[in-house]
Amino acid sequence: MSVPSGDAAGERDRTKEAAEPGAGDDGGELPTEIPPGPRGLPLVGNAHSLVRDPEAFFEEMSGYGDVVSYSLPRLQFCTVLHPDLIGRVLLTDFEQFGKYGFEDLGGEFASEGLLLTEGEQWRRQREAVQGAFTMEQIGSYAGAMTRYADELVADWDDGQAVVLNEAFSELTLQVLAHSLFDIELGAEAALVTEFAETLNARGSLDGVSTFLPMWLPTPENRRYKRVLSEFREFVERLIEERRGRADEYDDVLSTLLTAEDEAGRTMSDVELRDQMATFLFAGHETTSLALTYAVLQVAQHGDVRDRLDAEYADVLGGDRPTVADVRALDYTERVVKETLRLYPPAFITFREAREDVELGGYRIPAGTKLTLPQFFVHTDDRWYDDPEAFDPDRWTDGFEESLPDFAYFPFGGGPRHCIGMRFAMLELQTVLPTVLQRVEFDLLSDPDPELDMAITLHTEEPVRARVRTR
Ligand code: HEM
Repeated sequence: MSVPSGDAAGERDRTKEAAEPGAGDDGGELPTEIPPGPRGLPLVGNAHSLVRDPEAFFEEMSGYGDVVSYSLPRLQFCTVLHPDLIGRVLLTDFEQFGKYGFEDLGGEFASEGLLLTEGEQWRRQREAVQGAFTMEQIGSYAGAMTRYADELVADWDDGQAVVLNEAFSELTLQVLAHSLFDIELGAEAALVTEFAETLNARGSLDGVSTFLPMWLPTPENRRYKRVLSEFREFVERLIEERRGRADEYDDVLSTLLTAEDEAGRTMSDVELRDQMATFLFAGHETTSLALTYAVLQVAQHGDVRDRLDAEYADVLGGDRPTVADVRALDYTERVVKETLRLYPPAFITFREAREDVELGGYRIPAGTKLTLPQFFVHTDDRWYDDPEAFDPDRWTDGFEESLPDFAYFPFGGGPRHCIGMRFAMLELQTVLPTVLQRVEFDLLSDPDPELDMAITLHTEEPVRARVRTR
């Protein structure tokens, strides 16, 4: 095992080329050298550096190259920073890398849901779920997306101070409840939100509890288990109420209740529950964070706001956008892409090596957890000029063509890319124009908020803005 001292950080030349596969090996054998990385402490590994400042820790790691080892209590990790190598993990060598869902945390949450299943079970589920996310089906939710956005704005008075995270969280939750279950959420909305908060608190990178096993009766674990069980009961109740009436509805739940695999089997009760729970979590938080960050940026860039206004006047003329309009909202799409670049709500994608593999000329031992950090790769100056700047205009066709695959992957990539990607993009591209045509936002909180790397990329403090109706 060859692990250079921390002094090596910063000395390595980071080039645009990924290291040659197999470099350092002899004649096709797996290399023996494991990736270098910062030295950790006994037992806790590098947890102290990660918890103290995750961004600085990844910055430090990048000094060791594009494949870097580190460790956390009980676990060996490796981060992959080059798009070509990320492409190998997610796409080309997909079979060699399984999902890593934080063992007991993910296991408790929705181990039978699409996000965490593996192999044949995942393939079967993905096929069944695909039927609920066709473009035609997703398009049918556009009306609900803009209707809820309109209702949200109608509730705001001129001059009112609003908390963007909360407002958009409520909005995306209502859109999901409609698309998944064809219901309007009342008091249960608080339960879903509490569940998301609890899961984030349990999985936050700057919380010590994240590194403790689930069976320990810590206050975080106890709270998490209680809220999870209430959340599950709620989802199970919705499924039960629907059984036998699937053909009366045209939503995700009905599609899944009736979907059969080649052998004519439908999903088990647990699979169905975990599927719906996964969608509620994966689709709610991520999209509401993206809306929050988009507005955060638009509010501080008058030039971006002017361009959006001109586009809306031209394409929409004050109307709510339809699916057909979205195709013409080119600048809005760039604003959304740039938002997801700078603030990827799913900021790290996790994998686990199923066997000993070669990556970037190093040996990755079986069982090593891999982190593919969107938040870091998306701001790498090898691929992006002035990477920290919010600049929707960088997203020209020419730029996209020249960008290496996997230098931008807010929705992951390969066979397990986000199944809700088109749903989320449609929601972002319909909700933003609906809201922005009706109001302007004056930021009341920090324009460059501290970020909290929890399960998703949160702000430490809520983003507040004063609304000016138009
Ligand atoms: C801006 C919004 C969203 C972002 C940034 C996002 C991001 C991601 C990413 C990065 C992955 C890949 C995870 C991995 O490879 O380990 C993923 C997977 C997934 N996402 Fe999303 N997502 C978003 C919205 C949604 C929505 C709206 C839904 C559903 C309604 C959804 C459901 C899922 C599911 C079920 C998977 C697992 C797919 C599989 O493994 O086959 N996501 N998402």
